[in-house]
Amino acid sequence: MKFFADTAEIDAIRELAATGLLDGVTTNPSLIHKSGRDFMEVTKEICDIVDGPVSAEVVALDHDTMMREAEVLRKIADNVCIKVPLTIDGLKTCKALTEDGTMVNVTLCFSANQALLAAKAGATFISPFVGRHDDNGFDGMDLIRDIRLIYDNYAFETEILVASVRHAGHVLGSARIGADVATMPPKVILSLANHVLTDKGIEGFLADWEKTGQSIV
Ligand code: G3P
Repeated sequence: MKFFADTAEIDAIRELAATGLLDGVTTNPSLIHKSGRDFMEVTKEICDIVDGPVSAEVVALDHDTMMREAEVLRKIADNVCIKVPLTIDGLKTCKALTEDGTMVNVTLCFSANQALLAAKAGATFISPFVGRHDDNGFDGMDLIRDIRLIYDNYAFETEILVASVRHAGHVLGSARIGADVATMPPKVILSLANHVLTDKGIEGFLADWEKTGQSIV
């Protein structure tokens, strides 16, 4: 399972890239706003740090302008993945871009039928938002399960990129179902290493090591 960082914070991306756990990055207009950075500039910096796909989102709502925006964004770097919303114009843009060899992430997916449309449009990634799905009284994991089933039924190659991931439980659930990617805030990626018994074990080993009076270096 691949891990993408859902952020436009350069320091956090650098820190994660150094762990070897980072396979890509996703951004959106809200994350760009939060970073306070220039969109083009920060996207270029992220693409230089990370080898994998870096999602950059169009903001137009009509196909023609989406294509013009995508043209600008895809010139930033070879690993830019154009993010489009799950609308008919977004799907039309997805089809045109993927046929031209550009990676496309179809975002704001909240139903399995929407995911089916994205796969038919040749999407590289589909982004179902599990946290926001949960927030509205649904079960985000049911959505991922349905999409996995449908994609496997028809051997679609579109990768399921679980988004709006809020906690470790979303990661575990997605991995059990066989989602291809989870994109999450850096703190959620780092939290996956935490276990109280790991901390307790280290504490015990160090206390006993201290008693030996030895040192390794
Ligand atoms: O990946 C999409 C993400 O940025 C949305 O997350 O927590 O705002 O629902 P959230």
